[in-house]
Amino acid sequence: MRDEFDEPPVPEAEVSAGAVAIEAAEARASVSALPAVPGTIRLLNRDFLTDAANLPDASIDLIVADPPYGLGKDYGNDSDMRSGEDFLAWTYEWLGLAIPKLKPTGSLYVFCTWQYAPEIFVYLKSKLTMINEIVWDRRVPSMGGTTRRFTSVHDNIGFFAVSRDYYFDLDPVRIPYDAATKKARSRKLFEGSKWLELGYNPKDVWSVSRLHRQHAERVDHPTQKPLEIVERMVLASCPPGGRVLDPFMGSGTTAVACARQQREFVGYEINESYCAIARERVSAAAATSVAAGA
Ligand SMILES: C[S@@+](CC[C@H](N)C(=O)[O-])C[C@H]1O[C@@H](n2cnc3c(N)ncnc32)[C@H](O)[C@@H]1O
Repeated sequence: MRDEFDEPPVPEAEVSAGAVAIEAAEARASVSALPAVPGTIRLLNRDFLTDAANLPDASIDLIVADPPYGLGKDYGNDSDMRSGEDFLAWTYEWLGLAIPKLKPTGSLYVFCTWQYAPEIFVYLKSKLTMINEIVWDRRVPSMGGTTRRFTSVHDNIGFFAVSRDYYFDLDPVRIPYDAATKKARSRKLFEGSKWLELGYNPKDVWSVSRLHRQHAERVDHPTQKPLEIVERMVLASCPPGGRVLDPFMGSGTTAVACARQQREFVGYEINESYCAIARERVSAAAATSVAAGA
């Protein structure tokens, strides 16, 4: 495991000037021949559980955690080989390390499956305030499937906050109506309503296709999450310029969302190849944001 994905800290002035920060990162990257990422995005090829102590407490606005689910996936390591009580003990351990990193207005989204969601949510309810359970409907096509129970086509996402005073901005994630629906919904009574003009609340069932092999977004990671889902979390639950932690960043989807939406990011990943993928994705996203003048 090596540390070269960990950018050296960038001076404040560079952090505020996104394009300048990217230039500085490009200069560093050209020396090390790595794709450039902004100084506001830290991609660490490290184990979150052994490294969490280096992250200051109360420094994070939002945690997006997509850990191994305890279902035996191959991440090039044995991190998903725990099951049952062993898996839950490990889950409580990393959650116990992550929660103190949140600011008093901070929040946490954790991806999991129905097999373990009940225990994980009970544990989290003893530490934090539960805001939502979000169901990610992966839009799995109807095919054969199992014959001994109903086919599972969703992931559970727990949304928790440190306090009732948590940051949450619905406006950037409202879903606009198309012209025909807006017209159909329009009545004198609703004229000027925010939900009609800007769009409606995405609600707690998110139907977003999983990233099948041919999907344009897909990279070489077995459980890459769709950017649309993670970007919604970042926009709603991290203030502009705020800081996001991803303890299990995989191919860097949360980092990409932060690069696109001008949030700071720190993420951990033990597989060096996934760190390299994350770096490439962030570099491309940052270059696109700068070109678009974001
Ligand atoms: C479910 S995947 C994350 C996928 C990611 N959300 C994405 O969109 O690509 C979980 C990742 O956690 C990594 N991992 C497992 N244990 C870890 C640890 N202790 N510290 C950091 N990363 C870890 C695995 O290698 C795997 O890539």
